[in-house]
Amino acid sequence: GKPFHPSGNFQEKSPFWCLDGLSEENVRGVMARSVCAKSAFELWGHGHTHSELRTSLLNYPSENMSPFMHKDSTYRINVYTFNKTLEFVDRIKRIDALEYLSFEGAVSLKSPQHIFCLLEDYGTDPNDIPEHPNYIYFGRWIADGQRELIRSHSVKNRHFIGNTSMDAGLSFIMANHAKVNENDVVFDPFVGTGSLLVACSHFRAYVCGTDIDYNTIHGRGRSSRTNQKWRGPDENIRANLRQYGTEEMYLDVMVSDASKPVWREAALFDAIITDPPYGIRESTRRTGSHKDVTRPPDGIYLESHVPVSQAYHLSDIFTDLLNFSAHHLVMGGRLVYWLPVYRPEYREETVPLHPCLRLVSNCEQTLSSHTSRRLITMEKIKKPEEIDSLAPLADPRFSPYQGHNAFREKYFSGLNKRCREGGQQTERKSHWRHLSPVREQSPNIQTKRQHV
Ligand SMILES: C[S@@+](CC[C@H](N)C(=O)[O-])C[C@H]1O[C@@H](n2cnc3c(N)ncnc32)[C@H](O)[C@@H]1O
Repeated sequence: GKPFHPSGNFQEKSPFWCLDGLSEENVRGVMARSVCAKSAFELWGHGHTHSELRTSLLNYPSENMSPFMHKDSTYRINVYTFNKTLEFVDRIKRIDALEYLSFEGAVSLKSPQHIFCLLEDYGTDPNDIPEHPNYIYFGRWIADGQRELIRSHSVKNRHFIGNTSMDAGLSFIMANHAKVNENDVVFDPFVGTGSLLVACSHFRAYVCGTDIDYNTIHGRGRSSRTNQKWRGPDENIRANLRQYGTEEMYLDVMVSDASKPVWREAALFDAIITDPPYGIRESTRRTGSHKDVTRPPDGIYLESHVPVSQAYHLSDIFTDLLNFSAHHLVMGGRLVYWLPVYRPEYREETVPLHPCLRLVSNCEQTLSSHTSRRLITMEKIKKPEEIDSLAPLADPRFSPYQGHNAFREKYFSGLNKRCREGGQQTERKSHWRHLSPVREQSPNIQTKRQHV
């Protein structure tokens, strides 16, 4: 919630960002959540050369330095380089060259009270590493980010996974965009194997979800691991949370179709965070017969439990998701989801909007030269009963999202091309296998659903 200001020569692509306006406490708060930031420092000096750095450091107010340099303190200096590895002797030389700083305390390599860092930036091109750094920074270390979570929660070592399990880093980023906090209630309507719930439960939120797939919710059926044919006992979302010590945050998951309103009309969730199906690796389905083509007006639930499935168009998925969020998020609660886009046709105006939700951010993850998905974050600013019923008609962006057709078409034409060029039949087959349930329902799966 604290605004901060990038410095004058701020470059988004640079691995080093200088930010003004944050207290040390703010910085600790950010770093306690960020899986993108590596470390944060209080900047004492900087420059293009070591001589510029020296001038800059000697100009830094001594009253800001002295609390960390007095004779009763212990300290250590680290040297970090970006895009170059320095020999040990060169690191020592760098540290020795800082003798103009009046450290009065004792060096402690194992448990220093204060850690200082010299950071050298050698650019971002590994094929063009300059001899001397492009820029140098020196500062007092404040905190590390949470990048370790990416390793500790890697899906490679997760108990229960599926073909579309969301990677740990992105799941934590989504939880952060949703501002998930302790004791929040978070819902994922397309929960799959629950990767997003795992990340949210790490931040002590209570989590729940739905998925149309009986096997996924009940942890049955074919395993997604190469060396295992069937899922083993206790391969389910609850067991995933147990693996990370957050089982007490598990509310429940259930088999349910996201296109059908099964929840009572109330603001139930602090955040809705999801990765809807794109029909690429998993089917987009909803319950209903093929004759059932007319959609009921929003908010009106027809008593029509029809336990066969039909294609669930992506445009409807996003319209339903935004409507659902407008009705079931608490005020100020956030919706965070992925939107597939065909890059050549993408325009910011194609991102679906809703009069009750404010678009907070829109970030791209490139998948190929022509396809990407965008992480969309929205915040509830109005109750549905407060909006003018004609507003959705006035703005074309309130109408269903259309960008997915080109996305799917391009994804598959790219895939077929790669298969032709590389003869990778297996890749192609496996993709079509995940798609096939959309078109041909296996009768016994339908039977199972009838009982749900
Ligand atoms: C991209 S996956 C979600 C993966 C999930 N984030 C995970 O980490 O495993 C989309 C999920 O949506 C489910 N799905 C498809 N159509 C659905 C519908 N109409 N209602 C609810 N879930 C649906 C699929 O079964 C699939 O598990």
